[in-house]
Amino acid sequence: MSLSLLVTGGAGYIGTHTLVELIAAGFRPVVFDNLSNSSRQSLDRVARITGVAVPFVEGDLRTPGAVAAVLAAWARAGDPIQAVLHLAGCKAVGESVADPLKYYDNNVIGTQHLLHAMRDHGIKRLVFSSSATVYGVPQHLPLREDHPMVPNNPYGRTKAMVEDMLADLCAADPEFGAVTLRYFNPIGAHASGLIGENPADTPNNLFPYITQVAVGRRAKLSVFGDDYDTVDGTGVRDYLHVTDLARGHVAAANYVHAQPGFTAINLGTGQGTSVLELIAAFESSTGVAIPWLGSPRRAGDVAASFADSTKAQALLGWSAERSVADMCRDGWHWQQGNPQGYDTVATPRAREDVAVAAI
Ligand code: NAD
Ligand code: UFG
Repeated sequence: MSLSLLVTGGAGYIGTHTLVELIAAGFRPVVFDNLSNSSRQSLDRVARITGVAVPFVEGDLRTPGAVAAVLAAWARAGDPIQAVLHLAGCKAVGESVADPLKYYDNNVIGTQHLLHAMRDHGIKRLVFSSSATVYGVPQHLPLREDHPMVPNNPYGRTKAMVEDMLADLCAADPEFGAVTLRYFNPIGAHASGLIGENPADTPNNLFPYITQVAVGRRAKLSVFGDDYDTVDGTGVRDYLHVTDLARGHVAAANYVHAQPGFTAINLGTGQGTSVLELIAAFESSTGVAIPWLGSPRRAGDVAASFADSTKAQALLGWSAERSVADMCRDGWHWQQGNPQGYDTVATPRAREDVAVAAI
């Protein structure tokens, strides 16, 4: 489908992978990003993978008129934006506890600005980056979309608020369509090794911490908790390959194009993996040992979280295709070629089985 789509947050980790899949599917994405947690170089890498230089507008969602100016410019050029994939936002749970206003401001008020601009330009299709964190402490597993939203941190509450806002908007305007994608734990990187996760500071999340230990940037991994009621006492999560997650956005963009109304969909594999199992999978996929140290539980963590992903299959025809071993191999390929992320000077080597187009 050759629609023009605005991708907010398109320069980020999930955004760049989503651009690659959108372009492969024939969409024409336009990126709006303030680069607060990303690098301009990530889009150069997307161009190397796809052969397409994605139009990029540097701007902040909260700046009055900034998104509206982009929508107006594309409309004037005779190529109106037809839908928005809204990935921009802040995502660190701990930071949201320490600085909640930053999160309400960026994730909620920023989204309101976007929705106003869309309304003014008659754009009625949106795909939103939500999170499994909206469920809070699971009352049952696997998590289905009808599980109550009881988030237990400000970040999760901002995602739940935006979901409520979108549901209200769809109820008020029967022509409005919104798909909210509740991601489980995306990890790994594009198979080319050219794009991947690029945490600005010490990683909060398990997988980038593992890869930074593997590449020698950190000495040891701390394993938070060994006494959960799980297979080996460590926390269990539903890890999914970021390329599978990106494919989910293509499926959601197609779905929302045809379908008004509010729809919440989990994107996960349905498989739980413990911290120790992920370490073992990484070691066996890469041959690199990960030294680790047992540490107390991390405040706010749940024992286990994994998706019921049947709704994604039924509505979007989507299911995850890549294994934990694939996630480890591809995440390591990215980290090894880019030990300092996008700040690495050397050009990463592309895997032989992946075609990398020249710009
Ligand atoms: P990311 O930080 O790599 O990407 C987010 C992008 O949004 C960045 O490029 C950042 O510069 C941009 N941005 C932030 N605020 C902005 C603003 N006000 N205006 C314009 N651009 C802005 O994060 P990601 O991992 O790619 O996450 C993308 C989305 O998915 C986020 O909304 C996040 O909350 C959600 N999500 C991520 C995960 C995960 O584990 N990575 C899990 C669940 C949900
Ligand atoms: N963990 C460690 N050591 C670390 C980091 C994490 O043992 O250094 C453990 C955690 O205790 C947990 C598991 O690894 O048991 C996964 O932790 P992550 O931080 O990687 O992932 P979370 O499930 O806690 O949270 C992530 C994002 C949230 C998002 C959620 C669901 O940080 O924003 O996935 O998508 F909401």
